[in-house]
Amino acid sequence: MNLKKKVDQLGSYIPISSKEPHSIITEQYRKLRTNIELSNFNKEIKTIALTSTMAMEGKTVTSINLATVYAQSGMKTLLIDMDLRKPKIHRGFKKINQIGLSEMITHKLEIDQAVQTIDPYLDILTSGTKLPYPAEFLMSDALKALMQDLRHKYDRIIIDTPPMTAVADASIISSFVDGMIIVIAAREAKTDVAERVISDLKQNGANIIGSVMTRVQKREHGYMNYYYSYKA
Ligand SMILES: Nc1ncnc2c1ncn2[C@@H]1O[C@H](COP(=O)(O)OP(=O)(O)OP(=O)(O)O)[C@@H](O)[C@H]1O
Ligand SMILES: [Mg+2]
Repeated sequence: MNLKKKVDQLGSYIPISSKEPHSIITEQYRKLRTNIELSNFNKEIKTIALTSTMAMEGKTVTSINLATVYAQSGMKTLLIDMDLRKPKIHRGFKKINQIGLSEMITHKLEIDQAVQTIDPYLDILTSGTKLPYPAEFLMSDALKALMQDLRHKYDRIIIDTPPMTAVADASIISSFVDGMIIVIAAREAKTDVAERVISDLKQNGANIIGSVMTRVQKREHGYMNYYYSYKA
């Protein structure tokens, strides 16, 4: 398949925040950014991971747009795809996921060799080649060391992860980020499962800084509105 055909197929993840920066939907992502910044007052929240209870609740779309509005505010932002099982961040920026996080660690690449620049304020680090043991990779000291290096280079780091109920990955990621955001699809997420996931995360010591509700119907709160609950 040629590149153009492939890229055309991937169009749906292109961030609305860059296509339509003045839209109501983009405004909701800016509100989310503002609310995260408000939770920054007593502890620095520099690395932020998004997860959900189930698949397809909107983690990737929210991560891509959140990183875009952070970059638009003049903060040097890095978006990392830590969904090593179903990586999709590259789709939002018409990039190919050939070299990324896994190569950085396994081939000991420099940050500049693996990160792709989208604009002066936004870089992305795609997942890279699929690895046989993603959870072990996420637990590695090499990844923790890399996260420390990246902290010095960027103002904010947004991380996309797999859903909590499928695998342990997001729980592992929660142990080395400053804050977690839970993405919840309206009516689709099961309340008891969501409560259990949040309580498991908290027990692991995760700092849950809020939740985002996606797929809210127009008649309820306005199309694609977000409910952001501080300290979920
Ligand atoms: N706020 C939203 N409102 C309505 N639809 C949305 C919203 N965010 C994402 N979607 C749609 O939901 C679907 C899943 O989105 P996305 O890939 O971001 O979910 P995900 O949680 O990352 O899924 P996965 O668990 O497979 O990684 C897509 O079709 C996307 O367009
Ligand atoms: Mg995803």
